[in-house]
Amino acid sequence: TWTPGNIIDEQVEQIRRQVGDKQVICALSGGVDSSVAAALVHKAVGDQLTCFFIDHGLLRAGEREQVERDYAATMGIKVVTIDESERFLNALAGLTEPEAKRKAIGREFIRSFEAAQREMIAQAGADGKDIEFLVQGTLYPDVVESGGGEGTANIKSHHNVGGLPDDLSFSLVEPLRELFKDEVRMIGRELGVPEKIVARQPFPGPGLGIRIIGEVTFDRLETLRAADLIVREELTKAGLDEEIWQCPVVLLADVRSVGVQGDGRTYGHPIVLRPVSSEDAMTADWTRLPYDILAKISNRITNSVPDVNRVVLDVTSKPPATIEWE
Ligand code: XMP
Repeated sequence: TWTPGNIIDEQVEQIRRQVGDKQVICALSGGVDSSVAAALVHKAVGDQLTCFFIDHGLLRAGEREQVERDYAATMGIKVVTIDESERFLNALAGLTEPEAKRKAIGREFIRSFEAAQREMIAQAGADGKDIEFLVQGTLYPDVVESGGGEGTANIKSHHNVGGLPDDLSFSLVEPLRELFKDEVRMIGRELGVPEKIVARQPFPGPGLGIRIIGEVTFDRLETLRAADLIVREELTKAGLDEEIWQCPVVLLADVRSVGVQGDGRTYGHPIVLRPVSSEDAMTADWTRLPYDILAKISNRITNSVPDVNRVVLDVTSKPPATIEWE
């Protein structure tokens, strides 16, 4: 029978067998999946695990600080932050096609971990054990939608599945590969992962990089971060966090429309709100947010975020649309 306890025992056993006495590094994103994967591996091999948090510059406002605070305080797992934002921005320069962006981000993630690995080896010195393994919080839907399952089409290259380069110098440890999000949350709770991490809404590994439709630039990221923060603040204030699965906020950087703001005409960009309800992200329905909340969000964004003069609502279910726009 399926119980969180059984799955944990099984996975701990399997991780110990796979890893032996080697060192493991974990690609921590701050989200539910990588946190629970890290907690599982930590339970299995303890101090052989080192977690890295890659700041790829595609994070939402305040996210890096939150991760640095929460993990040290609540999980007892050591986390090393590496600022790689320049590397990712350079890799994304000139790219507009969604799969090209996803693949570039996946590649830079791995390059970042290789840099982390070299640093660890340098620090560990002569007696340093080999660092062979990389933990990822890949879930079953990630595998299926990246075309990893049998008879499935490649819908999107999830950053931790389809985006891996061929010359990968790690073996992957992916203890959640057969699980759905709700199961991962149950396992996380059983492992004692704090509720504020377990209950977090999903956020894609490629971050805001796949929520800017068009080329990703620092200025566009700043615009999207400002709009996204307003959306999160208002949804939280309205007590809607549990009701919605997630609410991507998307900047249509390649689209402009005419507006009238302050003293005159503007020619700015639209922001899209994409609130969805879902059980497992394989299918989703658009969430019927109250009109007054939408109005508040729209007013705040257009009054305070430069270059944005329009807010639109995505009222499409999945299928036919995916949750993220890219
Ligand atoms: P889509 O857009 O495929 O998204 O309907 C389904 C769920 O997966 C999240 N998502 C990702 N998560 N890496 C992740 O860790 C990715 O590359 C990725 N792409 C999409 C998305 O936010 C939604 O919850």
